[in-house]
Amino acid sequence: MNRISVDLAGNGYDILIEAGALDSAGAQLKQHIRSDRVFLITDTNVAAKWLAPLETDLQKSGIRAISKILPPGEQTKSWTVLEQLTDWLLDEGAERSDTLIALGGGVIGDLTGFAASILKRGCKFIQIPTSLLAQVDSSVGGKTAINSRAGKNLIGRFNQPEYVLIDPLVLGTLPDRELRAGYAEVVKYGLINNAPFFEWCEENGADLLARNPKALAYAITESVRTKSGIVAEDEKELSGRRALLNLGHTFGHALEAETGYSSALVHGEAVAAGMALAFHYSARREHCDEADAHRVEHHLKNAGLPHSLESASVKASGDRLVRHMLHDKKMAAGNLPFLLANGIGQTFLAKDVDLEDVAVFLDQMQ
Ligand SMILES: NC(=O)c1ccc[n+]([C@@H]2O[C@H](COP(=O)([O-])OP(=O)(O)OC[C@H]3O[C@@H](n4cnc5c(N)ncnc54)[C@H](O)[C@@H]3O)[C@@H](O)[C@H]2O)c1
Ligand SMILES: [Zn+2]
Repeated sequence: MNRISVDLAGNGYDILIEAGALDSAGAQLKQHIRSDRVFLITDTNVAAKWLAPLETDLQKSGIRAISKILPPGEQTKSWTVLEQLTDWLLDEGAERSDTLIALGGGVIGDLTGFAASILKRGCKFIQIPTSLLAQVDSSVGGKTAINSRAGKNLIGRFNQPEYVLIDPLVLGTLPDRELRAGYAEVVKYGLINNAPFFEWCEENGADLLARNPKALAYAITESVRTKSGIVAEDEKELSGRRALLNLGHTFGHALEAETGYSSALVHGEAVAAGMALAFHYSARREHCDEADAHRVEHHLKNAGLPHSLESASVKASGDRLVRHMLHDKKMAAGNLPFLLANGIGQTFLAKDVDLEDVAVFLDQMQ
């Protein structure tokens, strides 16, 4: 069992990572729930596999679950579904003293966390993430949001959960492609500031992708430790430290935009190719060796992830891709910061990147 404390002034919390944790969820969560009921929010895919066992286990601890099953997919992070969810909660008589539980991937976690932040001016919520991406990324750090017409995650709040319970065994039912996409974010932590962890990924990535429970538990723990450490230094993304978590995301967003945010390239896949590009661009600017960039590319390729423009099936010109980046919400006053690296595990924020040079680089990478 691994317990990680997220150290935040005033609203710190624990994250439990344990194979089989779902079987003792009632006992684990009881101390964080102030009544004999919880509102459990999930999606149809997750409900089919994991809702009944969780409800039964909560019941054993005297906690009644009142459950809402939403449709799966990014469209669920919308004003429409938020309204449906909050109306349902109010109809059911939810109070500020109640607790919401998000059982699902990042979509359910982001929506539920945001709903909790506004329901009766804020009630508690607990995360039980069920996708690898949610276990290593979205359930940690307190960002919650829905999408709007202008873009993804633009309406939201920082809202830290009361507790996060991670059971690697629930990944047993996650589709392969989702597992691989989540793995891209795992590799990201090694590349940001944890070179020994990247080496671990090189040696054990195949085991992890074969769903070896020990490999999964280790990688989730190391990822959560890395992310929560960075979040603790810069909870609300004010100092630039938290921006390190966006390694590969600026190049990645350009690829996602070019493929219309479609299933042609899911987020983690775009981030994988984006990280390889960020390392190659770092080598072009002589921040790191070309060998580092090749090492990153090679590992992502071995993991079956896109690792170049070609393997991401993106053929657009450099100019066009840079234009997509300029629509990125992280652009601050006309200046587009880039995450580059001095080597593996040595990512830094570069504020002096010449976008014309990025466009030339991307044309050369075709
Ligand atoms: N809050 C943050 O800091 C943060 C960080 C990264 C991503 N996100 C958000 O997270 C979302 C992506 O998360 P995601 O990749 O988990 O997507 P998701 O929630 O859509 O889950 C992916 C798919 O897997 C299914 N699924 C999840 N767990 C399963 C399981 N155990 N068994 C079978 N099927 C399962 C879901 O039903 C869905 O179809 C995006 O909306 C993104 O913006 C938020
Ligand atoms: Zn991401």
